[in-house]
Amino acid sequence: ELGEHRHYMHKEIFEQPQAVTDTLEGRITQDHVLVSAFGHEAEALFESIQQVQIIACGTSYHAGMVAKYWFEDIIGLPCQVEVASEYRYRNPVVLNNTLFVTISQSGETADTLAALQQIKQLKAKTPSSHVQTSSSSSYDQTPSSSGLTRGSPIHKTGLNIPTLSICNVPESSLTRESDLTFLTHAGPEIGVASTKAFTTQLVALSLLVTAVGKTLNLMSETQERKIVHGLQKLPGLLQKALTHEDSIKQIAQGFADKTSALFLGRGTMFPIALEGALKLKEISYIHAEAYPAGELKHGPLALIDENIPVIAIAPHDDLLEKLKSNLQEVKARGGQMIVFEDEMSCVGSEEGFQVVKATSNVGRITAPITFNVPLQLLSYHVALIKGTDVDQPRNLAKSVTVE
Ligand code: F6R
Repeated sequence: ELGEHRHYMHKEIFEQPQAVTDTLEGRITQDHVLVSAFGHEAEALFESIQQVQIIACGTSYHAGMVAKYWFEDIIGLPCQVEVASEYRYRNPVVLNNTLFVTISQSGETADTLAALQQIKQLKAKTPSSHVQTSSSSSYDQTPSSSGLTRGSPIHKTGLNIPTLSICNVPESSLTRESDLTFLTHAGPEIGVASTKAFTTQLVALSLLVTAVGKTLNLMSETQERKIVHGLQKLPGLLQKALTHEDSIKQIAQGFADKTSALFLGRGTMFPIALEGALKLKEISYIHAEAYPAGELKHGPLALIDENIPVIAIAPHDDLLEKLKSNLQEVKARGGQMIVFEDEMSCVGSEEGFQVVKATSNVGRITAPITFNVPLQLLSYHVALIKGTDVDQPRNLAKSVTVE
């Protein structure tokens, strides 16, 4: 089953171009996203939404973080994202007309499922009136004890909070409990560390932003066409990113004796940095952290010396100049810099940086999806050198069905 691959993780990394193609299949036309890809009722349910709340855990949470940037930047719709284990226990304020999105590869993650069930109970319990928290003890208090006025006046017939799950497993608990379901067609993911599921979650979320954007007239046809054309190019971009495996192997050699690594990015590359750090921790057991590059000065710069590799994700975008000056600060302190850039970034002209030109120029949607791939390969090759159990990292389970 593994074919030419030594591990499922490696196989699944290389399946990503196909997984993207499969996830797009039947969901887009030449120039458009089909809103009905989210279900026959999707258009009617999207029509009244005023904000989005995303809930997930781990890698799926990182996909949600990328989507927050997209929702607010591309269509101007407020979007919150939170890990399920926090959301479910903190009595969050839930506004009416919120699209409640859960993201999960397995569809069985206990905390994510519990957060969804809480929202469903809240909807069932709320005949009318104001604003709600999801806790039964305090949902009828207005204003809240914190003094905040909660939400806007609402619907006579109860809360309008349509639920959507983005999931890789059909007939899972999450899909059964959601109003709408979008299945990522990544195929079975065996490696415990999520790779192709994450990539297809991002594809699903880009389609969601577009579907919601056009339903609410927050996106022009030109914008939609641009996004769709970008997505059509994505399998090719991923294929190309995979061709850098040899140079990434070389870079991995410099990691095996390290105890710590720092990942930096700005904008959507911040959640991609978080995901890169999570992959490295999970499978190579090297301590890794990710920071938005602008936070360097606020603490992590103190860590930097020649023993800590710093990985920067540097697409040619509006934030590149800001990132470059952060990288200079790292360099000045003797840090070992590894830069993943595109063909236009030209960070590579700096001396002493190890640079991988991971891709050609990419857009707002395709950039985070593409730049994630070389980071997956980096973790994989570091783990290979360290001889860890790549597909079954210690202490971890593929499906976390208990909290
Ligand atoms: C990391 C990883 C986990 C999962 C998390 C949520 O590589 O796989 O962080 O993303 O346990 O799992 P799902 O997506 O099944 O809800």
